[in-house]
This record gives sequence, structure tokens and C-alpha cells, in this order.
Amino acid sequence: MRVGVVGCGLMGAGIAEVCARAGQDVVVVESGRERVEAGRARISHSLERAQSKGKIESAAQVLENISVEDDLAALADRELVIEAVVEHEQTKLELFAQLDQIVKATDAILASNTSSIPIMKIATATGRASHVLGIHFFNPVPVLSLVEIVPSLLTSDETTRRAENFAQEVLGKHAIRSPDRAGFVVNALLVPFILSAIRMLESGFATAEDIDEGLVRGAAHPQGPLRLADLIGLDTTAAIARSLYDEFKEPLFAPPPLLSRMVEAGLLGRKSGRGFYAY
Ligand code: CAA
Repeated sequence: MRVGVVGCGLMGAGIAEVCARAGQDVVVVESGRERVEAGRARISHSLERAQSKGKIESAAQVLENISVEDDLAALADRELVIEAVVEHEQTKLELFAQLDQIVKATDAILASNTSSIPIMKIATATGRASHVLGIHFFNPVPVLSLVEIVPSLLTSDETTRRAENFAQEVLGKHAIRSPDRAGFVVNALLVPFILSAIRMLESGFATAEDIDEGLVRGAAHPQGPLRLADLIGLDTTAAIARSLYDEFKEPLFAPPPLLSRMVEAGLLGRKSGRGFYAY
């Protein structure tokens, strides 16, 4: 399949990688030369890691399936485009309006990897709401097997079936369906849990290390909630919290002040080198 990915950050690079590893022809679009170079480096670094662990035969061979471009026009012939840009509603709406003009095939699917923004809002930016839906991956994308498939009220059954088939049969992921509500299934449960851990730290109730050790050793989580927030990115965690709060007005969904201050300070977790921990 001719797949397009918009955005080559943490999620976009991972999505491009799993598509290319599944033998798909992938065009990734990033904006500007520096980001294109950084995106390419991110993908090849991850593929080299997979090669050194014997998960793939040749990183170079997989890389042949991927080209990273800096012009959305490179997506004109794509059959499926997955958007993975910053978690910001206006940015996504503008991008989908552009994709609607650029992607030629009328039956092409325009998907968003949004973590929490309602798909219906995104679809209204296009003239083809029946072909827009959410395909939501989990970080690290090459490791975690889940994909949430999120049809909006106007997504056709055929589009949903094709997307599900792509996730399961082509990528080998496990797909679950989610209704089009902020947070979908996983983040509606996971993010309030992370926010509770941040409030526990903020109130001085326990240290970051004790909170994380508690959940790793006492509940067999692969990593504690604060380290996980660092992995997701504190800006993304805060953005998901705001979407959940906007939708449900549930106080537990509101970003705690400590999270907001850390984002304002540029302490975004692993990707910036410092969050609840230093990297
Ligand atoms: N890319 C590719 N592979 C990676 C990787 C990455 N970024 N990070 C880790 N791996 C692989 C390693 O190569 C290793 O593979 P092997 O077992 O075959 O050797 C395996 O994953 C385990 O990695 P490590 O031994 O280095 O470290 P770990 O055991 O501590 O695992 C982890 C790291 C995979 C991140 C694990 O801690 C984990 O699964 N954490 C939970 C992650 C999670 O919950 N993610 C969901 C976030 S929510 C989200 O993404 C949705 C959203 O909308 C925000």
C-alpha cells in the first residue's frame, strides 16, 4: 500500500517504521530541512537497534521503503495518510484541510493518530468525512501491539473495516474499536492515573522514585506513571488532560499545576532531556 505519514517526531517516526517493516511504500513529510534530517536519523537509529537485536535482517533494506520529504505535495498519490503532528487542534484542522486538497484518490483514507482530539472535529475540516478516522498507536510504536480504531459519526463502515484490516493484517497489530470521545479507551483510563501520580508528587505525599517503584514492584507495571509521562512527553500528557477536561469537566482530568509549570519550563520528559527524571 502507498502510505503517507505526516510528522516524523516520536510517533510519526515509529508509525513510518512499522509500516516500512511491513513492506509498505512509505512517504513521510516533515517541515523544514532540520526536522527532515532529525526524522530520518530517528527512524534509522531505531531500525539499527532492531537489526542489532535480530528483529529485522537489514535496516538498510527497510529504509529503502521510506522517503522523508518536506512538502505535503509528496502525498498526492497515497492510499492512506496517517497524521502524527503535534497534539494541537487548530494545527490538525489546517493540515486536514490541506490533505483533502492534496491527496488525489477519492477513496484514500485520511487518518489521525491524535491521542484525544475528537475525530469528528478533524473530519469537518475535509470534504470527505466518510474517509476520515482515528488510527491511534502507542509509544514505543515498534514495541506496543495495540492500535485504537476510532470512527467518527460520519466514517463509513468500509473505511473502518479497511483501517482495521490494515492495522491487523498488514501491520500485525491488535486493533480495538473506540467511540469518538476525548481520550478514547486507553488514555481515558491511563491519563487520569498519571495525573493522580503527579498530584501525589506535587502534594509531597511521596517521592517520584517511590511512586514509580511502587507501581513497578507492587503492580507489575513495566514502568511507573511518572517515568511513563516522561516517555509520552509532558506537553502531550498535558494536552490530553486538557482535551479530557474540556469534554467531561471532570476535575480529575484537569492538568495539575506542576504539570503545567513543567511544560512552560520546557521540561518535557525524555525528548527534552529532563522531566520528572534527567536523561
Ligand atoms: N523503539 C523500539 N524498541 C524499543 C524502544 C523504542 N523506542 N524502547 C524499547 N524497545 C524495545 C527494546 O529493544 C527491548 O526489546 P527486547 O525485549 O526484544 O530486547 C524491549 O523494547 C524492552 O526494552 P528495554 O529492555 O530497553 O527497556 P524496558 O524493558 O524498560 O522497556 C518500554 C521499555 C518498552 C518503554 C517499557 O517500559 C514499556 O512498555 N513501558 C510502557 C509504555 C507505555 O505504556 N506506553 C503507552 C504510552 S500511552 C501512548 O503512547 C498513547 C498516547 O496517546 C499518549
